[in-house]
This record gives sequence, C-alpha cells and structure tokens, in this order.
Amino acid sequence: MPANIAELIASMTLEEKAGLCSGADLWYTKAVGRLGVPAMLVSDGPHGLRTQKGGSGTERAATAVCFPAGCAAAASFDTALLRRMGTAIGAEARALGVGVLLGPAVNIKRSPLCGRNFEYYSEDPCLAGELAAAFIRGVQSQGVGTSIKHFAANNQEARRMICSSNMSERTLREIYLPAFETAVKKARPWTVMHSYNRINGAYAGENRQLLTDILRKEWGFDGFVMSDWGAVSDRVAGLKAGCELEMPASGGVNDRKIAAAVRAGTLDEAVLDKAVARILNIVLRWADLAAGPAPELDLAGDHDTAAALAAECAVLLQNRGALPIAQGQRVVYIGGFAQTPRYQGGGSSHVNAWRVDGALEAARARGRAVEYVEGFPADRDQREEAEFLKAVEAAEEADVAVIFAGLPESFESEGYDRKHMRLPESQNNLIARVAAVQKNTVVVLHTGSPVECPWADDVSSILCMYLGGEAVGRATDALLYGEADPCGRLPETWPLRLEDNPSYLNFPGNGRTVEYAEGVYVGYRWYDARRMEVRWPFGHGLSYTGFVYRDAALCADTLTRDGSVTVSVTVRNTGARAGKEVVQLYVADETGTAGRPPKELRHFAKVALAPGEETQVSFTLTARDLSYYDEELGDWYAAPGRYAVLLGHSSRNIPVRLALRFATDRRRPLRIDADTATDDLLRDERTAPVMRSILQRFGSGENAGMTGEAAAQMFESVPLRAAVTQIGGDQAAAALPGILAALRAALPEVKSKE
Ligand code: NOJ
Repeated sequence: MPANIAELIASMTLEEKAGLCSGADLWYTKAVGRLGVPAMLVSDGPHGLRTQKGGSGTERAATAVCFPAGCAAAASFDTALLRRMGTAIGAEARALGVGVLLGPAVNIKRSPLCGRNFEYYSEDPCLAGELAAAFIRGVQSQGVGTSIKHFAANNQEARRMICSSNMSERTLREIYLPAFETAVKKARPWTVMHSYNRINGAYAGENRQLLTDILRKEWGFDGFVMSDWGAVSDRVAGLKAGCELEMPASGGVNDRKIAAAVRAGTLDEAVLDKAVARILNIVLRWADLAAGPAPELDLAGDHDTAAALAAECAVLLQNRGALPIAQGQRVVYIGGFAQTPRYQGGGSSHVNAWRVDGALEAARARGRAVEYVEGFPADRDQREEAEFLKAVEAAEEADVAVIFAGLPESFESEGYDRKHMRLPESQNNLIARVAAVQKNTVVVLHTGSPVECPWADDVSSILCMYLGGEAVGRATDALLYGEADPCGRLPETWPLRLEDNPSYLNFPGNGRTVEYAEGVYVGYRWYDARRMEVRWPFGHGLSYTGFVYRDAALCADTLTRDGSVTVSVTVRNTGARAGKEVVQLYVADETGTAGRPPKELRHFAKVALAPGEETQVSFTLTARDLSYYDEELGDWYAAPGRYAVLLGHSSRNIPVRLALRFATDRRRPLRIDADTATDDLLRDERTAPVMRSILQRFGSGENAGMTGEAAAQMFESVPLRAAVTQIGGDQAAAALPGILAALRAALPEVKSKE
C-alpha cells in the first residue's frame, strides 16, 4: 500500500472507511472532505456518455456524441477503431469531469434474444477480449478510467437480478471469462463491474473465486470492483469476496452493516482497509490526472469521427449486384428508418445525442436523385395500406429500391429479452412485395442483433448497419453509393431461425436458474459442430473489392509448450477499389481430444489495401492458442499431437489450412485402477503397449467369434477389471494386481499444474 494511502486510512474513522465503500448518490463516490479525498463521478456507458452531474439521475444527461453501439463496433473487427473510439469518448469524459466510464460491456452473446446484445460485442471471447482491451486503452489514454462489465455470465435480461447462470467450470473459463481476462491482462482497466446474476448459485458480487482468486490472483487485476447498480445482496459477504464499492448509495444501511461487522469481529478490519486502499488508489489517481488541463469538448469533431467509424462497422451481408448504386440511377428510399434511423439501444447506455444523421437527409445533402416513401413506421409494427401500395409502386418505377428496415426501439432494450427473432411483420411483407417487382432491391438493416430474413434469397443486396451511432445515416449514404467500402464482419452467427440456436431449449431458464447446457458450443462452435446451414456465418462480410491469400506459412512445423510459432500470409487486394480485409485465424484440434469445437478463433487482423496492393500479415501462436480448460488439471491444457491452423475470410470461407504439431511431455493425470477404461489406457502411448497385448486376447472367451475390429471397439468402453475377466476368467482376474502394477510402472511421474 503506498505511504500516502496508508496514512489516509490510518487517520480515517471506521465509519468513514465503511462509508467510502458505497456511492454518495447515483453517480458519485463519497468525498472525505477533511482529508482532501474528492468525490469521483462515474458515467455510462459503453458507446458514448450519459453524464448526469446532479447525481440524482433526474436531470437530462449532458449532450454527448453517440458512437456505434457494441454490436456495430465489434463488427469492425478492428482494434485500432476501438482504440480510436475509446480515445474520443475518453476525451469527452475528461471534458465533462467524468472519472470512470461504465464500459466496455463484454458479455458473450449466448442467445440472439438477449435484450442487451446491442451493447455487447460478440459470441466469441477472443474477438470480445481484444476489442475491449483496445477500447480500454483508448479511454484510459485520456486520464479517465473504465469499468469493464458485467462480470460475469450475465447473458440475458430475464430475471437478471435473481437468476443463476449454471455451467461447468470449463464453459465459464473458455467462453464467459476470457474477454475479461484478455482485457484485464492487456489493458488494466481501473475498475471492474460485477454483474447482477448468480453463477452456479452464488451471486457474482459475493463470489470470492471470481472476484479475488481469478480476477486478482490469477489475472493480476489491481483496480477496484464495483457492483452493478443495486446488485448488492449481502454487503459484508460481498466485501469479503472482493467487491470494494457498492453502487449507487444505499442510504447508509450497508455502511452501518460493515462497521457493525468490524465491531462484532465478524469482518476483519484489514479487509475493509484493503478495500478502502483500492478505492483511494483509483480516486487519487484520477484526481491527479484531472488536475491537469482538460481537452475542450469537440462534439462536431467527434460526430465526424462517429461517421467514419460507422462506415467501417457496416457489414455487407449479400450483394448480387445492386450495390454500389451508380450516380444517375433513380432510387427510392422506403421505410421510416431512412428518415429516423435507429442508432442506439434503450436503457442505461442511452446517450443524449448531439445530432442524428438520417440516410435520406444525407442523400439529399449530396444532391442524389432519391425519392422517399415511408412504407412503414420506424417505431412500431403497423401496416398502412396506402403507404404500402405507394411503396410498391414507387419501387417498380425506380432503378433501385432501398428498404430501410430494422427493429423498433421497443423490440430490444436493457431490462428484457426479445421474445422472437423476427422483424415486424409489416416490414417483412413489404420487403417481399417490393422484391417481387424490383430486382435491384436493397435492404438496409438497423438492428442490435440478428433477425430472421425470410426474404434474403429474393432481394439483391443486404447491408447491416447494426446500431451505428448518431452519424449512421452519413455512413450508410457513403456505403450505398460506393464512396466507402464495406469492411465489417459479423461478430455473431446469424442463424436461419431462432430454433437453431444452441441455447434455444435453455433460454432464459425457469426464472431462478438457467442451464448453460450447450457448454462451450456457443455460436459458430455449435453451428460448425452440427454442420448446420446458417443465414450468415460468424466472421462473414463482403466488400466491393476482393482479396486473395498466398504464401501462407508457419515459421516452424512444431510448437513447444513454452515456445511460439509465427504464421504469416500475404494478402492481396485483387479488385479495382481500396478496401479492408479481416484475416481470421482459427485453430482446430486434431489430436482426437473429446469435446473440442471444430475450430476456434484465436487471432484476427484488419488490413487496408489499395487496388492491387498486397501486404504480409503475421500472428504469433503459443500453447494457450491450442488449449482448452481442463477441469481435472485446473489449468489450460493442450494434448500433444496434430492441430490445424486455419486462415480465412470468415469462419466458413477458409482458403488456408496449415498443419502444426504440438510437442509437450505434459500429460493429463491418468488414474490407474480396476475401473479405468481400457480406452484411456490405449490412448496413452505409455500404457498402450501393455493394453494392446491384452486386447489381442479379447476376441476369445465370451467374445469368441467376433472380428478383430468389433472386439477392439467393444474393448474400448470396458473397465480394466471386466476386460481381464472376459479374457481369461478367474485366472486373469487374479492377475489384475500384476497388470495394474505393470501399467503404473509404465507411467513416469504425472506432470500436472506447475
Ligand atoms: C445497470 C446496468 O446494468 C449497468 O450496465 C449500468 O452501468 C448501470 N445500471 C448504471 O447505469
């Protein structure tokens, strides 16, 4: 503990210390005036500021720029973009006197129905983690902290304050924690916000394994943990587990409980002191930085940045030739979203936006020949016959019809989940009718999460803007007319129908618990394992230009446990326009280890290329990239043997497959007793010779007459005790101790966690 902080704590009363562990009101930490400790302001949210300086939350939030929401930002697959966005939001936060920005939000998109998916990044933890780290670096470069949230396994809104997310430790470690792990290790956020929900029965905010053992001890987190708003159940238990700050204020009730627990001897005062030290450490760090000159608020400049970013987040899902629109084509824009785009989601992340650009306004400002028919309203599912017919007629007469479709605001928000994955019926009907009369039909989507697109095969082009922030209309205009190249990629699979999603039968649970029965098979890990057809796969996104890969190579064909191997590939822009490619690196385990998804994203890189230009992209692979979390070892583990390194344009468009061997003398512990399955002993090269000699005799006795192959297969599932009796009856059973001794002798000391 730094000397100045130790001194401060020594001169604080027990009440002052307990008091510092909860907020002063909705948005401020407490000041300790007599000791010069200032109150620090925190503000939502991930994609722009919702700053309410009054602290009560009743006043209108300060005007701020609304950047692309998490769903869109993640589609950029671009760490530099996230850093730029974080830097801009960080600068606004500095200018507004904010100490900690409440974001990024990195929960995994387990189901497309989660009401808050629009704020979250991805179904994939590697993508979410790298983007979060970049965003945090950007914000914190401005002398403002972040609060990565919601730690952890908060993947639905239904009963979010009660429900227990039940899953195996492997699932937690491989899917729901790594985004936090990467961000904490790489970018050192000042704070972490724990989630509302329980995990395997215990509230996240009272979960010592999560908040202390994993977060602090394993990952080295050195900031403080704050509760989500109103998430505290048992304050003293939470403090002991590792939640330093309760937010918002709880009227002094919980402060008194903390002080009483210290007096009663049920809470060690040293635990309280440590929590206070962690809070002071951040508050004083902020106060020091805030004492320097603050940047001027530059909302106009940030709006331009938001427009540039939105263009790089859009995903061109399909293009059969209607895009880009050529100058001079007669175009009709249909749908209320053309005028009033949906650009952000509802709930705590709602920004009081500086200004909003609609695509129609942007087109008119550029003097484009665009007619407009509303067709359907943006804010509800309503079919108005005259508008409907007018839209179909206008579409028939135009050269290109662009339908601005999307989810009305009430369809997705913090606080509740969607009930289905469909667009409003009025929109689906109109799209189908327009597509029937106009071959150049383009659909622009404004949605925070995937929707079913039953008309996809009937329209020419589909451009997904997600919720692109306040300047989304400007970006849409540039993309439609080819002044910008679409370069986003899907950060989540778009299934054909909701029922295909792996969580379908277990979402959102029974109100008290939700079983994550699909385990690690989330998103593409599931669709790939089931070899299912999807509408658009994870990582998919088209461009107006094209890219090819060549000269892909590994610097060595074998990776060792402590070593690394570099993968490189040359990417070339083969088209006539400048564009950006996202090279995606997946790893596939080919060692025969059970329960591993067919492939998993481990690295990605976005590169900008002029027409005809090429560049080399490289990645460094380590053992962790090949590993899964082994519950028996309590550690990450990769079996020795063969792996494939895949380089692709998307998870289902993989032109390069390279073979990599992993060499390690580390083995999973193999317990040898009478119940050990013969299969396990056959797989281990150390015990395999002994087992093979037993197997040769297996096709006799009760199994006489079986083919060698059948006997071998049957043998695999049999425990050792049964195998020996079936081979040789009583005599062989008597030999069991000797066989066990021989097998054990074949095993050198087992190497587990080091
Ligand atoms: C609750 C939300 O879950 C969290 O994300 C947000 O930061 C707080 N409210 C404060 O608004």
